[in-house]
Amino acid sequence: MEKTFLMVKPDGVQRDLVGKIVTKFEDKGFQLVGAKLMQITKELAEEHYGEHKERPFFGELVDFITSGPVFAMVWEGEGVIATARNMMGKTNPQEAAPGTIRGDYGITVGKNVIHGSDSPESAEREISLFFKEEELTSYTKNS
Ligand code: CMP
Repeated sequence: MEKTFLMVKPDGVQRDLVGKIVTKFEDKGFQLVGAKLMQITKELAEEHYGEHKERPFFGELVDFITSGPVFAMVWEGEGVIATARNMMGKTNPQEAAPGTIRGDYGITVGKNVIHGSDSPESAEREISLFFKEEELTSYTKNS
C-alpha cells in the first residue's frame, strides 16, 4: 500500500495544530502507521531539504525547521501521496484554497504549517530519513 511522509512544522506544533491535522487525515480514511514528536538536527534538515540547497532561502528554511519540535508521520492509503498534497494546499498559504490545511492555518511561505512528500521517490527517501523500519507499524483496522 502507498505511504507518504508528512510533518507538522514547528509553527504548527507551537500553535497546537497537531491534533486537528491528524484528525483531517484520519477522517479522510488514511491510516497512521508511524509518528513521533522530534527535534530535527541541522544535519537531518540539510539532507531532507537538499534539493533546495542553492535557493536563497535555504539557510532560513533550515533554521526554521530546527527551531522547535516537529511532528513526523507516515500515513498509508490508496493515492495518499497526491491526496495529502491536495489536502495541504499550495506551498504559499496566501495562494492555498480555503479548506486546505495551509489555506486555513498558514500565512507565510516559510511558516506554512506542514510538509508532505511530493512523489513516490521523495516519500520513500523521506520516510527512511526520518523513521527506522521498526518504528513503522502494519495493522488491520477492525471497523
Ligand atoms: P515544504 O513543502 O516543506 O518544502 C520546501 C519549503 O521551502 C516549503 O515547504 C516552504 O516552506 C519553503 N519555502 C519555499 N519558498 C520559500 C521562500 N521564498 N522563503 C522561505 N521559505 C520558502
